[in-house]
Amino acid sequence: MDVSYLSLEGKVALITGGCRGIGKAIAMAFTDAGADVAISCRNQPHLDAVAEEIGSTGQKVLPVAAHNRKTEELDNLYNKVIEQYGKVDILVNNAAANPAMGPLVDMEEKVYDLIMLTNLKSYTYLSQLVGKQMVAQGGGTMVNIASVGGISPDKGLGMYCISKAGIIMLTKSLAAEMGEHNIRVNCIAPGVVKTKFSEALWSNEALMKDEMEQMALKRIAEPEEVARVALFFASAATPYITGQVLVMDGGSSL
Ligand SMILES: NC(=O)c1ccc[n+]([C@@H]2O[C@H](COP(=O)([O-])OP(=O)(O)OC[C@H]3O[C@@H](n4cnc5c(N)ncnc54)[C@H](OP(=O)(O)O)[C@@H]3O)[C@@H](O)[C@H]2O)c1
Repeated sequence: MDVSYLSLEGKVALITGGCRGIGKAIAMAFTDAGADVAISCRNQPHLDAVAEEIGSTGQKVLPVAAHNRKTEELDNLYNKVIEQYGKVDILVNNAAANPAMGPLVDMEEKVYDLIMLTNLKSYTYLSQLVGKQMVAQGGGTMVNIASVGGISPDKGLGMYCISKAGIIMLTKSLAAEMGEHNIRVNCIAPGVVKTKFSEALWSNEALMKDEMEQMALKRIAEPEEVARVALFFASAATPYITGQVLVMDGGSSL
């Protein structure tokens, strides 16, 4: 059996949040698979350091700082990618944040705007920019990083969960609209992954003990494990899969 379908040779991928955690792991997996990549986050020096690290693979890496809540910076990111590579075969919407916790009824309007703009509008806006390009070039794939919080509520994280549920519906809606243009859109819903994002949880022994009890696999995920699933969706391994949400939570939701 030919297993070269995981190769991304000749492909260009844009990965947001590529300076650490899951986004960096995805950028590394994609360049290992032969893709040239563009990575973004808010911090140019962090991006430059990752570009240097990944650059040793021989693949091209374009590091462009862009704030998720500033559409002009997302425009600039997209324009720079087109300027350098002339196309985008793969978009990974990954950069997101959870800046506030607490009951939904107490959530202030400005916090609602902050989370929705950062997590949902940015994914939607970039999908529109890149989606038009993919239509023009005859196809592409998109992978959105959501969360199990977008499927089941997590007390105290209500607003974050709403934004992640929105990303799941963005995935399905885009997939339904864009399939006829040879564009597939899928979504990954991780449970706890060992990154800076979830450090308050995994560095707290008591909290982790409770969390582990729910997990069939009795451990949290490594970012590289999410990257493998992203490669699966982005590559020719999944040509007939679109609009799907793959839950990877170590069996917590069983
Ligand atoms: N870790 C988990 O347990 C877990 C579980 C489920 C889902 N997820 C999802 O996985 C994705 C990646 O998270 P992670 O765990 O890898 O977190 P992380 O280590 O905190 O990385 C987040 C990345 O997004 C960037 N970012 C954050 N806010 C941004 C903004 N406003 N504009 C542009 N870039 C921004 C960060 O860089 P800068 O801060 O330098 O901009 C960083 O590169 C997120 O969508 C998260 O919701 C994570």
